[in-house]
Amino acid sequence: MTRTAVLRGIGAMVPPRAVDNDELSALLDTSDEWIRTRTGIRRRHWADPGMATSDLAMVAGERALKSAGGGPVGMVILATSTPNQPMPATAPQVAAGLGLGTVPAYDVTAACAGFVYGLSVAAGAIAARLADRVLVIGADLWSTRLNPDDRATAVIFGDGAGAAVLEAGRESDPGALLGFDLGSDGLHRELARVPGGGSLQLADPDTPFQQSDHYLTMRGKEIFTHAVGRMSESSGRLLKQVGWEARDVDWFAGHQANARILHAVADALDVDRSRVLIHLDRVGNTSAASIPLALTDAAVQGSLRPGQNVLMTAFGGGLSWGSAALNWPDVDVL
Ligand code: ACO
Repeated sequence: MTRTAVLRGIGAMVPPRAVDNDELSALLDTSDEWIRTRTGIRRRHWADPGMATSDLAMVAGERALKSAGGGPVGMVILATSTPNQPMPATAPQVAAGLGLGTVPAYDVTAACAGFVYGLSVAAGAIAARLADRVLVIGADLWSTRLNPDDRATAVIFGDGAGAAVLEAGRESDPGALLGFDLGSDGLHRELARVPGGGSLQLADPDTPFQQSDHYLTMRGKEIFTHAVGRMSESSGRLLKQVGWEARDVDWFAGHQANARILHAVADALDVDRSRVLIHLDRVGNTSAASIPLALTDAAVQGSLRPGQNVLMTAFGGGLSWGSAALNWPDVDVL
């Protein structure tokens, strides 16, 4: 029997402060109507000053561990593009904060595709016997990286974290991760990025840093086109790989960037739009947190039930994309 990663627990959080479209419309040249009809977003949650990505990640991680019934984990993977600082990675701080001891802990950076990448790395680590149980967290705190004057990004992103506990099991177990499809295209790296703060453009006193270089920039229309194409292709390849037809997909859990993107991908795959999980209306685009947040919400609502087939697919800056498939297990969601 092949050793396979199996989902045993899930948890998520968003910070308490809700920001609705009307609040942003009072600050920017935008409207509730534009945001709702062009994206599907009604509100998002932004962290209060002083909150860090690790704070969000720890709450989600703790909830996922409780959902999995507690017990030790042998590795922590944090998918984030908004770490607490450029160095060191944020994952060791999260592992220590959760009292998980000296386990290996590291960050994975794949923007909005980060959680699917994190799951794939965890599944590989379990298959390679590097760990029997892995905590994978997707957490992003973009609110402090948004240019408050840029209506093209400021209305889109929200803060949050979602986490999953994966455990060694068998491919036939409920919750087994059945396959992955991943990809990237660095030729289009400029479409969504934070230009400053890395080796190319350091914060150097002789070349004063522009405030705007700390902010996320995004060429939305182009990203939209790439997102629909790549998510559709990747999902299609994965369906073939795991032997599912479109009608076998009970829930299409796509990255929650834009409801129009999700519906376009579902149409391309011939998955009925009623099978598309929509959570972005309440939280916006939470980047690496979006898929576990959407799954947790659907499980809490009771729409996502044990035995159902879930197709996840995500796309983000890099460009990076990835898909994963599993049959939903009977997990407690707190
Ligand atoms: N309010 C009002 N008008 C706006 C706003 C706003 N918030 N934002 C843009 N507009 C205007 C534009 O200025 C433009 O006006 P013009 O026609 O006079 O020039 C018009 O609306 C259309 O702009 P587009 O950018 O073409 O709008 P679009 O319909 O493409 O929607 C959006 C923009 C929502 C950003 C969309 O392109 C999108 O969702 N893109 C994908 C985002 C994504 O997937 N991101 C994930 C990667 S990010 C990461 O990994 C961190």
